Amino acid sequence: MNIPSYIKHEGVKEWIKKIAELTTPDSIHWCDGSQQEYDNLCELMVSTGTFKRLNPEKRPNSFLALSDPSDVARVEDRTFICSKRKSDAGPTNNWMNPVEMKNILKELFTGSMKGRTMYVIPFSMGPLGSTISHIGIEVTDSPYVVTNMRIMTRMGKEVYNVLGTNGAFVPAVHSVGAPLNNGEKDVPWPCNKDHKYIVHFPESREIWSYGSGYGGNALLGKKCFALRIASVMARDEGWLAEHMLILGVESPKGQKTYVAAAFPSACGKTNFAMLIPPKAFNGWKVTTVGDDIAWIKPGNDGKLYAINPEAGYFGVAPGTSMNSNPNAMQTISKNTIFTNVAMTEDGDVWWEGMTKTPPKKLIDWQGKEWTPDCGRKAAHPNARFTVPANQCPSIDKDWESPEGVPISAFVFGGRRSTTVPLIMQAFNWNFGVYMAATMGSETTAAAVGAVGEVRRDPMAMLPFCGYHMADYFNHWLQFGREIHNPPRIFSVNWFRKDAEGNFLWPGFGENMRALKWIVERVHGEAFAIESPLGWMPRYEDMDWAGWHDISQEQFYNLMSIDREQWKKEILSHEELFIKLYDKLPKEFVLMREMLLSGLWRSPEKWELEV
Ligand code: GTP
Ligand code: SPV
Ligand code: MN
Repeated sequence: MNIPSYIKHEGVKEWIKKIAELTTPDSIHWCDGSQQEYDNLCELMVSTGTFKRLNPEKRPNSFLALSDPSDVARVEDRTFICSKRKSDAGPTNNWMNPVEMKNILKELFTGSMKGRTMYVIPFSMGPLGSTISHIGIEVTDSPYVVTNMRIMTRMGKEVYNVLGTNGAFVPAVHSVGAPLNNGEKDVPWPCNKDHKYIVHFPESREIWSYGSGYGGNALLGKKCFALRIASVMARDEGWLAEHMLILGVESPKGQKTYVAAAFPSACGKTNFAMLIPPKAFNGWKVTTVGDDIAWIKPGNDGKLYAINPEAGYFGVAPGTSMNSNPNAMQTISKNTIFTNVAMTEDGDVWWEGMTKTPPKKLIDWQGKEWTPDCGRKAAHPNARFTVPANQCPSIDKDWESPEGVPISAFVFGGRRSTTVPLIMQAFNWNFGVYMAATMGSETTAAAVGAVGEVRRDPMAMLPFCGYHMADYFNHWLQFGREIHNPPRIFSVNWFRKDAEGNFLWPGFGENMRALKWIVERVHGEAFAIESPLGWMPRYEDMDWAGWHDISQEQFYNLMSIDREQWKKEILSHEELFIKLYDKLPKEFVLMREMLLSGLWRSPEKWELEV
């Protein structure tokens, strides 16, 4: 093994040696993170058919990858938390005994990189050297993963300087699980159709991923490290690792307020993080710190400070357009890797929702010829772009600040076509934690499985919490007890529909109206009235500047609370509570009773005063 001389960490060397002996790659490539290395790998993938270079005049330095049709999203039912005790993983995670799992993995990984190159990727989650940051090393046999990790993390040999001779790092082993035995020919998107395992060992803080090359299954710094492993670190060390975007709001007076918001996968985090206020909101500006993950720590001043541990966006492509998210469209104008979108005749990209009229002819995400009347989707619903965060026009000037940005509000929102009002503020921290913990959302294409069913998705963390969900609730409650002036907590729902199935709320830039109310509440500048579920703005408390035809009735429809629907809703809270019974915070049962009592003292259909 030819180990670069700049690596002085015996633990790293020993570990890599062990993994190489197990997986028997043809060669080892120690990634240095340079542009040259990135360009070479892109060229390599163009030559093997994994990448297509897009038209350099339309999309400079950008590539398209089409995955195997069986490998298109996270596999939640193949994701495991292997703590020593089953009760530490809890009933919402798949668990297996770590010894048993290690045996399975040993067998799967034996010779799994044969015929391939093993890449060693040193990376930092968070700015290099920040006290909030943490280091990982991913070993992978996928050059696609290397190039994506270079965009999504701070990757490079400088990481070894931070590690020194004995620094701590999270070891993450990834194999697509497709060894090339006896000179077998490779395919553009190797993966293993029979076996997929996304495995976390929270006590030893290790990650092993087998069989998939897609997104969160394979870019191990993201969900596996920055959420599942980090949530365990956060529990032990008194901080929060959350599935949240972070944005800044600048008022015309120049006041800056940072907000962190948790929405489930493909429910609008990227859009909200890059929001452009309506034209009539003169002087208001939204800046982007992060679009998917927040690490939040209490500062010495008692405030909460958040960093975005990532360096890029792995964003949902379908639905992204100059109308819905111009900042994202500008961000992906160059240096972008697209996965599972369609290609136009002139070598650019297209997906559903990008333009009103689709192109006459495309190559779809499965490499087939596509026409608008062919009855198939041109892009996969979970098609994604991978792009450096610093290309975003709305990037916050402090997005890489090692101290993080101070958080004044938490926002939670699911995708709910009924029941849940557009916006409310929790009565206090504990009610806010309850509201977040019982959040429901209709499932999306971001994970393999049924789409559109309501499931409880506490804090948008159901697939990402590395330990017992009820312990996680307790951690949130305890966290609130320890901070002096905890951020205010809000619930939003952009997705409420009328009886005909039309969205009641236009969403996107118009979400600024809700965001402005949130910011004003934080500063004690906006009025609210008490509803059965929380504090709410009246029609006149919202800024409707530039939107002349929204009626009071329309708004109150969006805000109404239907007792029958909420009875069902609370019954389904109960289902979650029974599932988590052994560790459920005692406060939750009391708060449920308070909510029920409030609903009963109100009319069957509670509405703001008209
Ligand atoms: P992950 O990256 O999977 O964690 O998801 P995300 O939360 O960042 O998802 P993203 O912002 O990419 O959301 C994509 C989907 O949400 C698309 O289908 C959008 O059209 C839809 N969406 C985003 N914002 C809004 C909104 O305000 N209203 C409506 N109706 N849809 C929205
Ligand atoms: C999500 O599903 O929440 C994502 C995409 O952000 S992935 O990284 O694939 O998990
Ligand atoms: Mn996400």
